[in-house]
Amino acid sequence: AVTMLTGCGGGNDDGKLKVGIIQLMEHPSLDTIRTSIIEGLEEEGYVDGENIVIDYQNGQNDMSTMKNIAQKFVGDEVDVIVAIATPAAQAALSETTDIPIVFAAITDPVDAELVDSLETPGGNVTGTSDEVSAEQIMGLAKEITPGFKTIGALYNIGEDNSVSVVAGLKDFAAKNGYKVVESTVTNTSEVQQAAQYLADKVDVVFSPIDNTIASSMAVVTDIFNKADIPYYVSADSMVKDGGLATYGIDYTVLGNETAKMIADILGGADPATMAVKKMSDMSVYVNTDTAKEIGVEIPKAVLDKATTFPQ
Ligand code: TRP
Repeated sequence: AVTMLTGCGGGNDDGKLKVGIIQLMEHPSLDTIRTSIIEGLEEEGYVDGENIVIDYQNGQNDMSTMKNIAQKFVGDEVDVIVAIATPAAQAALSETTDIPIVFAAITDPVDAELVDSLETPGGNVTGTSDEVSAEQIMGLAKEITPGFKTIGALYNIGEDNSVSVVAGLKDFAAKNGYKVVESTVTNTSEVQQAAQYLADKVDVVFSPIDNTIASSMAVVTDIFNKADIPYYVSADSMVKDGGLATYGIDYTVLGNETAKMIADILGGADPATMAVKKMSDMSVYVNTDTAKEIGVEIPKAVLDKATTFPQ
């Protein structure tokens, strides 16, 4: 038999490297990221079932489920844990400070206490960040629907990725004379009521890159569209799913970049000194159906630079 020799020994009998993927939950963006990671790994020469074995587990947006998954990966002595979304990466790090963890799409890895710094992570964890700026997204809001004064913030207070972006929103609001009304949830069952609460109180609503909201877009956009409220979001998938607009990154590119980092780690690189990669290419995304439904005319200058949904 042919044996693959690489930098990481995983105690694996048949010589295949083991990759454990822990994904917070299923929603369109996280699914895109996972698919792009697996495709990217193939491009790097790591093919599931050939020279690696991928064990994909879904955390159901539940901390105890994720703890069990992380413990299973540690017990299985996987060679690398790939963690998609902030709470999944945090669950993985709580179970091991030895096995390398490569995270994907962590909005703020420092605030989430996953790395010491972006340049020098310092431990067993590194990966890609999908940092966005609330200030830039509200800048887009000013171009599309100028004149608003109150901004609703709808998010899961338990997601560090969201808390960090909303802190930026509050900063922006304080400096520019806007009022922020927060409406927070702790799980998907609270989303409808939290959105409804904002519907007659604010001029526009903002959601950060929040997993809980991203998985509840049908419920949320139904409420805001009926109330004719412009709903600014933070990810392309959330615009595709009915949000009005955002200024955000391309998650297929992010998945491929994550795969390159995973390949480097499988080849023996040290996560402690491998800098976190931020995505530099940002684009404007607009949902033209939503604009029509709430009676907003998207300025030509915005349309000219936007990727529009439905496609
Ligand atoms: N950035 C999120 C996190 O840190 C994960 C994420 C990626 C996400 N793409 C998204 C969340 C799209 C909401 C919508 O956990």
